Amino acid sequence: MESRIISCVGEKGGVGKSTLNCMLATNLVLLYGKSVVLIDMDDPQYSLYKKRLRETNAEISDDGQEIPYPVETASVENLRFIIKKYYGNVDYIIVDFPGSINREMVTGLYFIEHVFIPFSHDELEVDSTTVFYNTLRNNYLGDEKAALRSVHVFFNRYEKVKKNKFAKLRKLINGADINIMDSVVLDRTIYKEEYRSTIYPIPKNRENGEKEIKQFFDEIIEISK
Ligand SMILES: Nc1ncnc2c1ncn2[C@@H]1O[C@H](COP(=O)(O)OP(=O)(O)OP(=O)(O)O)[C@@H](O)[C@H]1O
Ligand SMILES: [Mg+2]
Repeated sequence: MESRIISCVGEKGGVGKSTLNCMLATNLVLLYGKSVVLIDMDDPQYSLYKKRLRETNAEISDDGQEIPYPVETASVENLRFIIKKYYGNVDYIIVDFPGSINREMVTGLYFIEHVFIPFSHDELEVDSTTVFYNTLRNNYLGDEKAALRSVHVFFNRYEKVKKNKFAKLRKLINGADINIMDSVVLDRTIYKEEYRSTIYPIPKNRENGEKEIKQFFDEIIEISK
């Protein structure tokens, strides 16, 4: 089996990395039938790993739902070994990095094949995201030590009411020669509550609109083919 190593990652804290890595993992498994491992590197918070523990304690025992995929913790020191354990055995290895990428953490990025950088409408982010994007593109793409094959930016917390603002931003980003994904992730309360689960997928009858999150999942699958 060919494994893909992917991550929603960025230099900024609180932009939705963990939320999207979690939804991606759960839905790739339960909506798309893929096999996945989710690796939580956010030491010492380990928010995804702890979420899984809470969910298994509270819910699995109640309704008999099966555990859909493993959630592992890892540090920069043992990431290589955790990846090795799953490489070739799952379709996707999804890595969740901490809020700030320090010098140490940068070495963890060597393993990632496809990077997806969340970007919100805060104008100040344009600069920091551009720096992170270009650092990856200039230093990792083409470096034989790095696995990186593509870097993409995407709008997270997209608001339809601000579509003109986002359209302008998209132009700016395109003009700066940055790869931006067509699909966006809307700003929705449900993404921080019910849908942010390591156990339950998005219900089948939900999310059928034009800007639904499934288009985002589809695009990630397509890019990392
Ligand atoms: N698309 C979205 N719609 C609504 N809320 C969102 C969305 N994406 C993220 N959030 C919320 O934003 C907050 C930060 O998200 P999250 O913890 O995923 O970010 P992060 O980048 O992993 O943060 P950190 O850098 O601390 O690891 C959370 O409260 C989360 O629920
Ligand atoms: Mg996080």
